[in-house]
Amino acid sequence: MYAKRLLWQETGNEELLAEAAGILRAGGLVAIPTETVYGLAADATNGEAVARIFEAKGRPRFNPLIAHVADTAMAGRCGELKGDALRLAAHFWPGPLTLVVPLIVPLVGPLAGEVAVHPLVTAGQKTIALRRPLGPAAELIAHFGRPLAAPSANRSGQLSPTSADHVLEQLGDRIDAVIDAGPCTVGLESTIVAISDEAPRLLRPGGLAAEAIEELLDRRLQRLAPGAHVEAPGMLASHYAPRAALRLDARRVEAGEALLAFGEKAPENAAAAVASRNLSATGDLVEAASRLFSDLHALDESGAAVIAVAPIPAHGLGEAIADRLRRAAAPRPGPASSG
Ligand code: TXA
Ligand code: MG
Repeated sequence: MYAKRLLWQETGNEELLAEAAGILRAGGLVAIPTETVYGLAADATNGEAVARIFEAKGRPRFNPLIAHVADTAMAGRCGELKGDALRLAAHFWPGPLTLVVPLIVPLVGPLAGEVAVHPLVTAGQKTIALRRPLGPAAELIAHFGRPLAAPSANRSGQLSPTSADHVLEQLGDRIDAVIDAGPCTVGLESTIVAISDEAPRLLRPGGLAAEAIEELLDRRLQRLAPGAHVEAPGMLASHYAPRAALRLDARRVEAGEALLAFGEKAPENAAAAVASRNLSATGDLVEAASRLFSDLHALDESGAAVIAVAPIPAHGLGEAIADRLRRAAAPRPGPASSG
């Protein structure tokens, strides 16, 4: 498979949009032009599609992704857009600004799942990064009708792409298509601002000057200490960690434990588990990645003090899954820690 180049025209892009939306609906990956850099997009509601983003980039970690939306209404169905966040969105969207706001927990009922993003997009956190881009990407999202999860369309550790050729050089053999709309106008990633009950924080300087944001809000943004290099600001926020302790590489289930299995072969004594989930009965790491956060949540809700986690293969997405599990298993300070 080699990525198809879809050439964006001044007008008459209906067929192109339908083709790209078809790929996304089928769980595929489409690189999209935005005003900042090209993004590697997948349906944000489809966990396996989102997992394929990490696979294609060769990212060894599940850091949270930006959910790209078509308008403020779509954003408001994913995260809490009020106060400063709403003012910034109204003034600077569409444009190179990403807002990190509290996630709206999807309701059960007929609306559940419609626009709520998959937990892999937020890396299981209670906040979500939202951005309304300019240009063809926005048209595609409106046509598709759902948010798109998209990191920059480069291989992990390489430069962000500002043309379709850059994307193809790095990812041509790993994605389904790229929409080629020429070079990006801003060429620098979006500015990321976190809005919470505390003062707004600048998580990443980018294509929109921080001063412009401060002027609109009439207050200073909190910044990270000068010189502090944060590659993935999302990793600093308090990530979801289960209440239960995790016991990794478990080949046997002990009495009272919950079980997170992987693959066909059940660990010894699996029947004794008080609750159990299998990340992928067929041993598919893409499926496993897409289920990781929801399965951990479900097992945590069983009330078991310990979750035994079966061995996970170390190749492909297994590396990112293991990284996430190690973080969840690490001893934590405070009352939530379990001996
Ligand atoms: O301009 C851009 O922002 C481009 C285009 C494609 O939109 N996207 C981009 O995505 O730069 P990415 O994945 O390369 O960077 C997104 C950053 C990551 O550092 C991630 O940790 C952070 O956003 N992030 C995402 N969700 C977050 C959250 N809930 N809290 C804190 N940081 C978050
Ligand atoms: Mg990036």
